[in-house]
Amino acid sequence: MNRNLLFSAGAALAVCVGGSALTLAQNAAQPAGASLRPAASFSSIANQHDRSVALFTEMGKVLTSPRCMNCHPATERPRQGDLRKLHEPVVVRGNDGHGAAGLHCATCHGKQNFDPAGVPGDGHWALAPASMAWEGKTVGQICEQLKDQTRNGGRDLAALVKHVTTDTLVLWGWNPGGGRQPAPGTATEFGALMQAWADSGGACPAG
Ligand code: HEC
Ligand code: HEC
Repeated sequence: MNRNLLFSAGAALAVCVGGSALTLAQNAAQPAGASLRPAASFSSIANQHDRSVALFTEMGKVLTSPRCMNCHPATERPRQGDLRKLHEPVVVRGNDGHGAAGLHCATCHGKQNFDPAGVPGDGHWALAPASMAWEGKTVGQICEQLKDQTRNGGRDLAALVKHVTTDTLVLWGWNPGGGRQPAPGTATEFGALMQAWADSGGACPAG
């Protein structure tokens, strides 16, 4: 609710500052993003493995959305916008995800979204490590990778749920500013789906 208010306020502000901002405002006027099925609605699937797979498949709508994919790319460059174009200007992951020496993400990305210029922001804006690249992978492959503690930052299922419900870069996906389409559903719905997936054994879709 508050988020929508902020969003409209951002769009209104964008209208005031000229031509390119007008385009952003038009984007903001697009219908709201796709929805997510509530976790509880999956309880009708009696087979636990099938239920778990179905829950992760639903989560895949978020994981493959541009808001998450742009920061979990296959190459060392982030992507931008709903069309997932390569980031301009050229920036790279660097040693720690915060960019190469001399052109850190924080040079341009502030602690919060700066909507008049459409620049997203967060206190620890950074590119996900190469081991957490999702771009070009199937939802099943992303699932296997997410569970693999050698690639996911040493997280068990509980730590994964904690990450997606508390990490500010993940939560940014539902408050992206700049006329961007938020990730499907709400952060709370996504967290509930992942919790239900973990509770049902964390099974992955085949393929
Ligand atoms: C601004 C860039 C950025 C965005 C946007 C972003 N992430 Fe990430 N993500 C990261 C970074 C950096 C890490 C590594 C953090 C760490 O290991 O502590 C990460 C790690 C993760 C992990 C840890 C496990 C793994 O194997 O990937 C999950 C889960 C995750 N992100 C989910 C999401 C979801 C879901 C979204 C979209 C709603 C999202 N992220 C959007 C940068 C981003
Ligand atoms: C020289 C300035 C600059 C630097 C440095 C920079 N960015 Fe950006 N970035 C921008 C601007 C401007 C935008 C907004 C452009 C747009 O979306 O049309 C943007 C957008 C993005 C987006 C798009 C979000 C979305 O979903 O649309 C991501 C992801 C991103 N930057 C990641 C990074 C990362 C990670 C770093 C550091 C490795 C970085 N950027 C460094 C200027 C910069």
